[in-house]
Amino acid sequence: MYVVFLGAPGAGKGTQAAVVAKKLNLAHIATGDLFRQAIEKGTALGTQAKSYMEKGMLVPDKITIQMVLDRLLAPDCVAGVILDGFPRNLEQAKALDEALVTRNKTIDKVVYIKVSEQELLKRLGGRWICRSCQAPYHATDSPPRVWGKCDKCGGELYQRADDTAETVKKRLEVYFAQTAPLIDYYTKVGKLAEVEGEGGIEAVSTRIVSALKGKLKAR
Ligand code: AP5
Ligand code: MG
Ligand code: ZN
Repeated sequence: MYVVFLGAPGAGKGTQAAVVAKKLNLAHIATGDLFRQAIEKGTALGTQAKSYMEKGMLVPDKITIQMVLDRLLAPDCVAGVILDGFPRNLEQAKALDEALVTRNKTIDKVVYIKVSEQELLKRLGGRWICRSCQAPYHATDSPPRVWGKCDKCGGELYQRADDTAETVKKRLEVYFAQTAPLIDYYTKVGKLAEVEGEGGIEAVSTRIVSALKGKLKAR
């Protein structure tokens, strides 16, 4: 099963993809996480991505699409994947569709996680993430057991450079201009499932799993 998680910055794509991937035994591929890992490692990909991410702009399609198509060939993707943060514009969506056809695969479902703008700002303002495994936390809504340390791997928690008020504003603009049109794109082909993204983390993941249930039974 190939699933896309679509939603604004801070909607909970990363939080939910981690939970749902574990529940359904799918690989979790997050383009933002792949770029941040590359930056941490100081690779050429990281150097290319950094200046765009800092400004809240999209990394060029050519780099991003190739990275995802390569990653999808890894053995852990055989049982299925959740794509978190990709595709993010129509060019990426079309390139993904075309590549999957040649691989005899297709997107089964696109989960659109809907959250109000007020809640998005609150979530991004309080977010801390793990430097080693990228797990997201929130200062008040989902704090780690020990402050500053990741519950999952003990890694150091930090605030993302693009979570400043100014860059968040830019990311939201980019989202509404370039990514939100994908809601229509996937609705037209009957693949969109809209899920209410507010409420507790568990409540949201239950909604997502039930939105994917039909697909699971059909397999
Ligand atoms: P990316 O890393 O994908 O960032 P994003 O889309 O802006 O989304 P976020 O990761 O900020 O939010 P999220 O929805 O994952 O929310 P989270 O679960 O963390 O991309 C970053 C940059 O990389 C882009 O700007 C671009 O430059 C580049 N990039 C990435 N993909 C690209 C692509 N395809 N093409 C080109 N460029 C690309 O949750 C947020 C907070 O809320 C956390 O603190 C969490 O603990 C909390 N929270 C989550 N759920 C709940 C809940 N139910 N209740 C209360 N709090 C909650
Ligand atoms: Mg994320
Ligand atoms: Zn960690």
